[in-house]
Amino acid sequence: PDLPDLLVVGSGFFGLTVAERCASELDLKVLVLDRRHHLGGNAYSEKEPTTGIEVHKYGAHLFHTSNQKVWDYVTRFTTFTGYQHRVFARYQGQVYSFPMNLGLINQFFGKAHTPEEARELIAKQASEFDTETAANLEEKAISLIGRPLYEAFVKGYTAKQWQTDPTELSPDIITRLPVRYTYDNRYFNDTYEGLPTDGYTAWLTRMADHPNIEVRLETDFFDQSNGVAEQFKGKVPIVYTGPIDEYFGNSEGRLSWRTVDLEQSVVDVDDFQGTSVVNANDEDLPYTRILEFKHFHPERVKTHLPGKTVIVHEYSRFAEEGDEPYYPINTAEDREKLLKYRELAKLEPMVLFGGRLGTYKYLDMHMAIGSALSMYENKLRPHFADGAELK
Ligand code: FDA
Repeated sequence: PDLPDLLVVGSGFFGLTVAERCASELDLKVLVLDRRHHLGGNAYSEKEPTTGIEVHKYGAHLFHTSNQKVWDYVTRFTTFTGYQHRVFARYQGQVYSFPMNLGLINQFFGKAHTPEEARELIAKQASEFDTETAANLEEKAISLIGRPLYEAFVKGYTAKQWQTDPTELSPDIITRLPVRYTYDNRYFNDTYEGLPTDGYTAWLTRMADHPNIEVRLETDFFDQSNGVAEQFKGKVPIVYTGPIDEYFGNSEGRLSWRTVDLEQSVVDVDDFQGTSVVNANDEDLPYTRILEFKHFHPERVKTHLPGKTVIVHEYSRFAEEGDEPYYPINTAEDREKLLKYRELAKLEPMVLFGGRLGTYKYLDMHMAIGSALSMYENKLRPHFADGAELK
């Protein structure tokens, strides 16, 4: 069979950006493989069939960027709504404005503070520990925001996120715990923010919609039975966006990740919590937060079945073999393994590693797209257009 000019493993934002650029700009034939039954990687979304509400299947995805190049690129495939993300935090029977801001401070301490008064209060509470000598995450957090805010808004959430008591966690996990001395509770402060008007899957599908691009689903690059790897390795350039350790048969050991269990339910109320995300800060609530998807698209209210809503409880835990890897844990041991894998990757002929799994890095969507555009400009175009070596 005819070989493509380029093989892309993984149809997430990284893989599709590379495929789209090479197909559109260089007229290359690109084959994209994905082992899942759908394209789009973790940004994939679909409508919950009974309610018509769009659900992000791998956790909430909010698009935001200050990168003009990325914005100019993504707006070729989709328009964006005016959605601005805001998160609230539940603690001991109350719901607070979040991230920590003057509204939260006033509500929590039961008194109106001026910005100056609030600053003084938090500085005084934070003086209990010195940031430089903090021995663990708890001491570090207290040195930054004081014990009362730490105990309410960091302790339980962090313990659940890491399945570990914060006194046992490294102080290096946090560098900053920003407190805003204004009432600003916007989650992101990027130049551009919004949700794709027709949903993530429509956007991702348009990126792949090019006569030079073939997307082959339910096809694992490593599946011995279909022999994909043997068919292509060393014969065509490959952009690989799967897990880097898996590519090398975990020869240096597995890199560690956290995963999230997403428990979706349709409930019989029109509005469950009045907003899209409420964090669960109490330690005795087993989940870390509840998402309510209809609130991501208030403009679609007429298309949603009234009287029902879709909610998702999120539970965070360490990923085991077979779980979806979501957040790199990045211990010293992981960093050591990663360096070894990077050395191996350099030696691998005709293969470029990219994306969040291929680089073992948490990347927001705009970062994955930006880094794919750079790989195209700095490596793929010079190779295909000018015959430069592919490394
Ligand atoms: P991605 O993981 O999307 O795609 C990789 C693809 O490769 C997958 O489809 C996989 O099936 C495939 N693959 C792997 N191995 C393979 C093999 N051997 N053979 C065939 N296919 C293989 N970002 C943001 O900007 N705002 C947000 O709000 C969020 N929220 C968020 C929540 C959660 C829980 C997570 C985990 C992540 C986010 N993100 C995010 C980040 C976002 O998901 C991320 O930027 C993109 O998924 C990155 O795209 P990639 O293409 O790099 O990987």
